Amino acid sequence: MTLLRIENVWKRYHDHDVLRGVDLAVRPHEVVCLIGSSGSGKSTLLRCVNLLETVDDGVIYLDDQDITAVRTDADEVRKRIGMVFQAYNLFPHMTVLENICLAPRKVHKVGRSRAEGDARDLLARFGLADKANAYPDRLSGGQQQRVAIIRALATQPRLILLDEVTSALDPALVTDVLGVIRELKEGGMTMILATHEMGFAREIADTVCFLDGGVLLERGTPEEIFTAPREPRTREFLRSVLESRRL
Ligand SMILES: Nc1ncnc2c1ncn2[C@@H]1O[C@H](COP(=O)(O)OP(=O)(O)OP(=O)(O)O)[C@@H](O)[C@H]1O
Ligand SMILES: [Mg+2]
Repeated sequence: MTLLRIENVWKRYHDHDVLRGVDLAVRPHEVVCLIGSSGSGKSTLLRCVNLLETVDDGVIYLDDQDITAVRTDADEVRKRIGMVFQAYNLFPHMTVLENICLAPRKVHKVGRSRAEGDARDLLARFGLADKANAYPDRLSGGQQQRVAIIRALATQPRLILLDEVTSALDPALVTDVLGVIRELKEGGMTMILATHEMGFAREIADTVCFLDGGVLLERGTPEEIFTAPREPRTREFLRSVLESRRL
């Protein structure tokens, strides 16, 4: 059973092949971490899944529906996918509660009291109950990022895509955001994360995928990828990550 199936996806910008024949199947409740150097195509792959980019070749299925077909209603597909970016993009003129309720109310046509009740439940679950009426600029970076994740959850998506959600944060705040992601995993959420945090990928992923120049070169359990990578390029990448940590 797969929730998402990416088959032979190619993406080209001008004459540069950014994704080269990527295949990936994601099961319900599975957590997939995409790792690889800057420019390897991690964000592009996530953007293709969320239909922010059109693929040049290949097919992506969500719940067995071909979402890359020309007749696909992208807005309808995005209702089933939550996406959180590195820059959290909360609306500054709206309170935390208003930010979270926006999509459920406007896109999913949920009534105000139910949307607000659900939003307060989520805030409480993630330790932000007292921030409901605050504006984003009164929150720390880590709190803003947690609100952005809660906002993506509020529409009860089938799948959440997280792109480097901790890379703009101080190390102390990273822990809080990672805690939220850990909690989502325990709740059974299906997720694909692009991350440079190898320790976290190792802890949270069911499957780690190494992208190299747009090719999904190697995939496996965290144990397989981090302790016994088969491909020389994977070993080289992990060695360079370790070395940069020592600087
Ligand atoms: N809109 C665009 N137009 C042209 N080239 C692009 C565009 N978006 C991405 N690229 C190129 O595609 C390649 C892959 O970029 P992508 O953002 O997917 O990498 P990434 O793995 O997410 O990197 P990082 O770890 O730095 O976030 C890069 O060479 C980038 O310059
Ligand atoms: Mg990226």
